[in-house]
Amino acid sequence: MATPIRTDGADYWDAGAVAYTAGRSPSAVDAATLRLAPPTGDVLELGAGPGVVSRQILAFAPASLTVTDVSPAFCAALGRLPAHVICADHRALNFPTGSFDRIYAMATLHHLREEALAPMLTAVRGWLRPGGRFALVEDWAFTPENATQQRLLRLRAALRHHQDPGETHPDANTWIGLAFAAGLCQTARAEAPRREQLARYEVLRGDPVADEDLGWLYAHDPEPEIPMSILVFA
Ligand SMILES: C[S@@+](CC[C@H](N)C(=O)[O-])C[C@H]1O[C@@H](n2cnc3c(N)ncnc32)[C@H](O)[C@@H]1O
Repeated sequence: MATPIRTDGADYWDAGAVAYTAGRSPSAVDAATLRLAPPTGDVLELGAGPGVVSRQILAFAPASLTVTDVSPAFCAALGRLPAHVICADHRALNFPTGSFDRIYAMATLHHLREEALAPMLTAVRGWLRPGGRFALVEDWAFTPENATQQRLLRLRAALRHHQDPGETHPDANTWIGLAFAAGLCQTARAEAPRREQLARYEVLRGDPVADEDLGWLYAHDPEPEIPMSILVFA
């Protein structure tokens, strides 16, 4: 068993910032998200990482862009953008009520521990102006529909247990329920594919179930895609 890590803190992301940045480029998920909730007015992007989405947001010429991240390494990269950078944990953010017309959270809120999700969504609801939109993009939130997805979800659960059991990854309907309880209503929903690298599961080798799943995937679907969930709320 590997020493558990915390993916909701700066150490993990500072250590992996170079590799993450090298592997992150504008994606079909980004495009679908910005199509469903086009940036306008004052915009907040939570957990912006290397700023790949931030740059796409800036292309819409919003009135202002505020980006946040817990990792100083990512914040240094974000500092090169014409944006207001806040280097802080999601849980420490504090904006006046009704500060933003758009809020984006791309693959970042699942790093929070379960008990932090409801307060986070309540905070987001408060920061949003009337008529504003919150776009939440999450991975591993889909309901499996075929053998590839079932096996990938099982491998992902094993990897999470192996690395950071505290990551939450609610399914899409659970996210919608949590958001509704925080006062947010869903206005749009979509899925867009992301390529999954089987190599990341090699650390699970030796576990008979993981060995079986990996063997099956390499034989039947060696370059699988998983659906990312895009949820837009008002
Ligand atoms: C999977 S990356 C996504 C980065 C970016 N949103 C993107 O789409 O490329 C997760 C990001 O969440 C940030 N993060 C993780 N936990 C955080 C926390 N507790 N507070 C603020 N940011 C956090 C990480 O530093 C990282 O940039």
